[in-house]
Amino acid sequence: MADYQGVRAVITGGAGFIGSHLADALLARGAAEVVVVDNFFLGKEANLADARAAHGDRLTIYREDAADATAMAAIFDRHRPDLVFNLATKALLYSFFNPPGACRVNLDIALVLAELLRAGAYGKLVHLSSSEVYGTARSVPMGEDHPLQPETTYAAGKAAADLLLATYCRMFDADIVTVRPFNNYGPRQNDGAMAAVVPLTVQRIRQGRAPVIQGDGLQTRDFIYVGDTVRGILDVGLAGGLRGQTINLASGIETTIREIVEQLCAAMSYAGGIDHEPARKADVRRHVADTSRFRELFPGFALTPLAQGLRSTVEWYLGR
Ligand SMILES: NC(=O)c1ccc[n+]([C@@H]2O[C@H](COP(=O)([O-])OP(=O)(O)OC[C@H]3O[C@@H](n4cnc5c(N)ncnc54)[C@H](O)[C@@H]3O)[C@@H](O)[C@H]2O)c1
Repeated sequence: MADYQGVRAVITGGAGFIGSHLADALLARGAAEVVVVDNFFLGKEANLADARAAHGDRLTIYREDAADATAMAAIFDRHRPDLVFNLATKALLYSFFNPPGACRVNLDIALVLAELLRAGAYGKLVHLSSSEVYGTARSVPMGEDHPLQPETTYAAGKAAADLLLATYCRMFDADIVTVRPFNNYGPRQNDGAMAAVVPLTVQRIRQGRAPVIQGDGLQTRDFIYVGDTVRGILDVGLAGGLRGQTINLASGIETTIREIVEQLCAAMSYAGGIDHEPARKADVRRHVADTSRFRELFPGFALTPLAQGLRSTVEWYLGR
């Protein structure tokens, strides 16, 4: 594929944070059809409002469980997609409410998509894994061959899905690429229950409440702006020769949670105090990606600076 012009794509989890931006981008780049399969566990119709308004004739949305093999077979039979972006998941914090459910959803959907690929129902799978599969860094920066040592059942399910899909590449030459994004932030990130640090902090300051830091705030993450992630995923989707590969998608810059909260306070002109809570159990302590594989594949890929990305994010939440 030279570009997405004329391509038919399925996005599982397409009504979520990253998936809805991916739908916008695919449609803007000329995809013939984008089919979203989302059970709306955290996904929102509002996330797809722009896509619907601009390109509604090329967007189809199914409120469906992507782990339901029969429903998925019917959808694929009807739309005959060229490629699939697998983003459906239940948030990491759901692990604490429903440990088996948070794990199972990741593995079950991967199995359904792998079997559809084996049956020839589509041609290529771009699977979204997560940096969470690595757990706390044993060595930094963390390359794709860093040991898998998940801290949560969510991450265990992600790691299991990655291992499963790798077997389909080896056994059946399935065309699957696994992308491991690190911590995303940006417009449309869930700011309700199970929110991550950026939307949670913005939401609390908006409501006149003090932001919260769990633990000492010195735990680190590698933050990447959602627009960059989407461009990266789309580049991977178009590239040939990546069958069976795993690729980190991140900034390669290590930032403490305290720094992120302080930057958001500054961006929102908040000068009040910060509340401190005990550290979350099974929280990853240190995370920063080795991005050399991605940069070798896509030299010149420009990343949004953190300060600029946080400003756009805050503006979006305030303007909503
Ligand atoms: N946001 C991040 O920082 C981050 C980091 C690393 C990896 N990822 C991965 O990127 C992908 C997208 O993440 P996100 O942040 O957009 O999450 P999100 O929760 O916003 O989106 C996931 C979507 O999947 C849907 N979903 C859940 N279970 C489903 C099911 N059984 N069938 C169909 N749809 C279902 C949800 O309703 C939601 O819309 C996920 O696979 C996630 O693991 C995200």
